[in-house]
Amino acid sequence: MRAYWFDNAEGDQRLPHDSGRAVSADYLSQLGVLYYNIPSESDVDKLALERSYKNRDMITVSPEKMGAIYEEKVKSFFHEHLHEDEEIRYIRDGAGFFDVRSEGDEWVRIFLEKDDLIILPAGIYHRFTTDEKNYIVAMRLFKEEPKWTPLNRGPDVDVNPFRKEYLQTRQVKA
Ligand code: LAC
Ligand code: NI
Repeated sequence: MRAYWFDNAEGDQRLPHDSGRAVSADYLSQLGVLYYNIPSESDVDKLALERSYKNRDMITVSPEKMGAIYEEKVKSFFHEHLHEDEEIRYIRDGAGFFDVRSEGDEWVRIFLEKDDLIILPAGIYHRFTTDEKNYIVAMRLFKEEPKWTPLNRGPDVDVNPFRKEYLQTRQVKA
């Protein structure tokens, strides 16, 4: 895992966009974003049990696996959105970037690769992209039914109860 401020430069979303300014795991935790490196899947089973996750699946995001819809999918994952539930991703192969909004509404880019696990809290605005290698395999964990409806950013979603709750519970210090 490596986190840094996104450079906001033009160019493909899959480029690193590294401003050179690092972001610490401690700062991520202030945003409610939790990061773990977990080499053993049995430790993921424990985490899933502790947080009452009952279901999981695996997704491969690559042109080989997805075919013609790959480019469209990658663009759709990159639309800024939130969920009304936590998002947990456990990377099993390849790599990708999660971008999350800071308290000042700037993008923090998080590079994840094999054995990295990330928990994004409900209500945080975020987006995802593969990197230039166009390949990631990730486990997605679900509490009950997969409830992965992305709610795209906009005036209605800005006042969503889960968004409000997120903003109230985060007392972020820069
Ligand atoms: C998701 C990632 C793309 O919602 O944030 O699946
Ligand atoms: Ni999401």
